[in-house]
Amino acid sequence: MTISPPSIPTNLFKIFSGESKVKMVKCYPTVSEEYQKAVEKCKRKLRGLIAEKNCAPIILRLAWHSAGTYDVKTKTGGPFGTIKHPSELSHGANNGLDIAIRLLEPIKEQFPILSYADFYQLAGVVAVEVTGGPEIPFHPGREDKPTPPEEGRLPDASKGSDHLRDVFGHMGLSDQDIVALSGGHTLGRCHKERSGYEGAWTPNPLIFDNSYFKELLSGEKEGLLQLPSDKALLSDPVFRPLVEKYAADEDAFFADYAEAHLKLSELGFAEA
Ligand code: HEM
Repeated sequence: MTISPPSIPTNLFKIFSGESKVKMVKCYPTVSEEYQKAVEKCKRKLRGLIAEKNCAPIILRLAWHSAGTYDVKTKTGGPFGTIKHPSELSHGANNGLDIAIRLLEPIKEQFPILSYADFYQLAGVVAVEVTGGPEIPFHPGREDKPTPPEEGRLPDASKGSDHLRDVFGHMGLSDQDIVALSGGHTLGRCHKERSGYEGAWTPNPLIFDNSYFKELLSGEKEGLLQLPSDKALLSDPVFRPLVEKYAADEDAFFADYAEAHLKLSELGFAEA
């Protein structure tokens, strides 16, 4: 493995592997020891809160909606804390997320040193971990940005594969990321008053496992829900084999999910 000359004025290094596959490696900012300690302590507090309130699903949704507004071309939006602003929170797709912000605020108050940007992404990582999901690396150092993105960047559940590719493509995410991240619906449920849809995807919505994919393949069932955007994963020739793979192999799902979640949580962060 060779690394390109360090003289290149960028904080990203290209690593060339045997099959001339190019992988971009991020170069993260250094935070103070005090900041790093706050991250560790905050992580413990978040574990406690999420266990006490059983709120992992809405916390994961908050982290994802915070990051998923990133636009790779204009480098606007993304996981930079703007979702706490009323103007972004009032976007139609964010209905109900004020609850997550309120639940988290008493913990945030204990860690004034942390940016909201880091705090919400840390909360998302903890939500996956404490419900039995994969460990997702967390790198601190995101700064809060002042300006929320415009409305309309998050996916519409009534639409199909073209729309999913369009929305996730704007974030800079791949087909594999779309399917793996859709497995986030292993947690939680839809609430009629928030999205117009009602019901959970799996019989165990507080456990992070591969049951979302198993349920998706086994067809619609009394009491469970599949959104049109979930069903789109079954009819698409690239998405479907990944659904089948993740339903058959939870380890493969966890590995790809962790990679995709890490990317999502770092869109626009530590990049050139
Ligand atoms: C692929 C496109 C996606 C669409 C169209 C979509 C749509 C939705 C909708 C309509 C809801 C219901 C909200 C409510 O009524 O409370 C929901 C909930 C949820 N979504 Fe997604 N979502 C997508 C991707 C994701 C991703 C990438 C994640 C995380 C990795 C995620 C995590 C969740 C969670 C955890 C909930 C449950 C929230 C709760 O129980 O309060 N979703 N999603």
